[in-house]
Amino acid sequence: MNNDPCITNQKRKNPLTLREGFWLPTFLLNSAASFPQNFHAREDDVVLTSPIKTGTTWLMAISHSLLHKPKSNDTYNADADVLTNNPHSLVPTVEFELWSPTTNVNIFDPTPLLHTHLPLPLLPASAAKIVYIARNPRDTVISMWHFFNAMIQPLPLERAVECFCSGAHPFGPFAGHVAEYWLESRRRPETVLFVKYEDMKRDPKMGVLRIAEFLGRAVAGTGEVEEILWRCSLERLKGSEVNAAAHSAYFREGEVGDWRNYLTAEMEEGIHRSVGVKLEALGLFF
Ligand code: A3P
Repeated sequence: MNNDPCITNQKRKNPLTLREGFWLPTFLLNSAASFPQNFHAREDDVVLTSPIKTGTTWLMAISHSLLHKPKSNDTYNADADVLTNNPHSLVPTVEFELWSPTTNVNIFDPTPLLHTHLPLPLLPASAAKIVYIARNPRDTVISMWHFFNAMIQPLPLERAVECFCSGAHPFGPFAGHVAEYWLESRRRPETVLFVKYEDMKRDPKMGVLRIAEFLGRAVAGTGEVEEILWRCSLERLKGSEVNAAAHSAYFREGEVGDWRNYLTAEMEEGIHRSVGVKLEALGLFF
């Protein structure tokens, strides 16, 4: 593996550090380390997990909608939540917002729904139910490239692909991240649900029903599923005032196969060689 943590290391900003074989943003090391120490899952707790740029935001919006079902006589408006908050504000990412003795904020207390990009070996042993979302690596790298162009600084695509293939990108290597959760979902299907972005796009109703069933959340039929999907749709989230104003980088095309518009045959071959074959061996994505 090339040990140059390249994607976010432009001008020495946002360096990465290797932990348990994965590259973590160095500024997150302390909170990542304190997650296993401070999180003791209760029965109903749910942890969403993902590499970056694989559909996290969509999964957050759907899971929030499912787990905040209004009770009868309840005036709570689940739609208002999703419409007026970026999904990342509704579902805290532990390594970014973790409890610390200095801030004295314990995000574990009020919420049963959390998210992390941390790889499986860095999760607390007592992690509650886990829903993991993964995506074809070719679309992931394109999504990542656009995201870093918007959020950090423009990067030539060749360089982004090189970094992705080397594994030295935030929470990389991608293949290892995906493979570990995939294998865990096979070992403990009642505790870990493995969701593919492509499956969600192809049959979103089935995707929502699968997540709901795993979470033990009864749905009131197709009408409710359709409403959740409408509420959490890319178009709607992208167009909401809160997201358009400050979070537009999280919402782009949302297309399966968008990589065909960008990757050369040589880049595609490189991705297949360094990332694809490992996933292909598990029957994933190729
Ligand atoms: P593209 O860059 O291919 O468009 P993450 O949420 O993990 O950062 O992933 C971002 C990707 O998910 C982006 O893909 C983004 O457009 C897509 N996305 C965001 N919200 C979505 C939604 N509600 N439905 C489907 N895709 C969504």
